[in-house]
Amino acid sequence: MQVRRNGAGSPLLVEEVMGYEGFSGNETILYHLHSPCRLDQVGGFRPIERDRWVPDAHVHRLADANPIEPGGEAVSGRRLLMWNSDIEVSIAKPTEPGGGFHRNGEGDEVLYIHRGGGVLRTVFGRVPFRERDYVVIPRGTTYAFELAEGEQFWLCFHTPGEIETPNRYRNRYGQLLEHAPFSQRDFHPPGELETCDERGEFALTVRVRGGHQDYVLDRHPFDVVGWDGYVWPYTFNADDFEPRAGRFHLPPPAHQTFQGQNFVICTFAPRMLDWDPESVPLPYHHSNIQSEEVMFYAAGDYAARKGVDVGAITLHPSGLPHGPQPGAVEKALGAKATDELAIMWDTFRPLELTSLWREHDKPEYALSWNPDRSPVEA
Ligand SMILES: [Fe+2]
Repeated sequence: MQVRRNGAGSPLLVEEVMGYEGFSGNETILYHLHSPCRLDQVGGFRPIERDRWVPDAHVHRLADANPIEPGGEAVSGRRLLMWNSDIEVSIAKPTEPGGGFHRNGEGDEVLYIHRGGGVLRTVFGRVPFRERDYVVIPRGTTYAFELAEGEQFWLCFHTPGEIETPNRYRNRYGQLLEHAPFSQRDFHPPGELETCDERGEFALTVRVRGGHQDYVLDRHPFDVVGWDGYVWPYTFNADDFEPRAGRFHLPPPAHQTFQGQNFVICTFAPRMLDWDPESVPLPYHHSNIQSEEVMFYAAGDYAARKGVDVGAITLHPSGLPHGPQPGAVEKALGAKATDELAIMWDTFRPLELTSLWREHDKPEYALSWNPDRSPVEA
């Protein structure tokens, strides 16, 4: 329809529908001052190269992400840690926001902000983010970063599928149920819209077709004067996750935060523990025979694993059982609460590792369930 910024006589705005699943999924309509197709120069294309590490043994693994050196920009400085065809997980410790604009043309992104904060500037408006935020960025969003002072340490997820909240938390109209672990109030949409009617030279890099394509625009990409719809970037803070507990142990789906294509992301938040006098307030040993289980330890004390500190990552791959380490269960009996905060991603297909994991791998972890062999104290 005809939409003008300042009524009759002013130029028509350019309507852009941005939607999933052709024209059948969620969508947003944005109103631009100029055509979003407009390019000035077409730059180069750089294929993504993955530095695969094939370990010489299939074992449980632990890596410490703390010593990973800070550096680089908020997008190009992300360092791939693991991937499969459904998910890529990178570590970023950016020291520079990066000068240009970015758009992921082949996947949704989630950033978990372990340390740091700033503002994600987007075509939808400004999205401030802080420690413990999940920042969800739909594909197709043009964005740039402003970084707060101080340390930045992020987990970065990319998926060719969609990042969604679990269907089972929603009623038949799509509203979050009251007993879901979060409500609509916990999801923070873009705030102030930046409308820049500027000429200039603006670098834009679009991730597409397994690589990065550079362009130069001669108009500022944030020329939107208004939008509405169901597709927009948002933040959700892990401290707003309402944990669930039971008389006996509840399995990880109780902690599920997001669903993706063949993976889930869960938040293990500080919570009361199982309250039956006969309960064991730790996970049982489990063989999740159809998934790989990766856990990032974000805060507090994770009682089931000794020698695993904040900033560590464990990988419990398919084919092997895992559970509390020796002595952990006895120590935990009678505990009323836990202060742990951990971010978990389970993938239903095997994960490949990169040399970044190899550099920070702790091979002794594989033997840590054997008190006769393990240097890790129970
Ligand atoms: Fe597990």
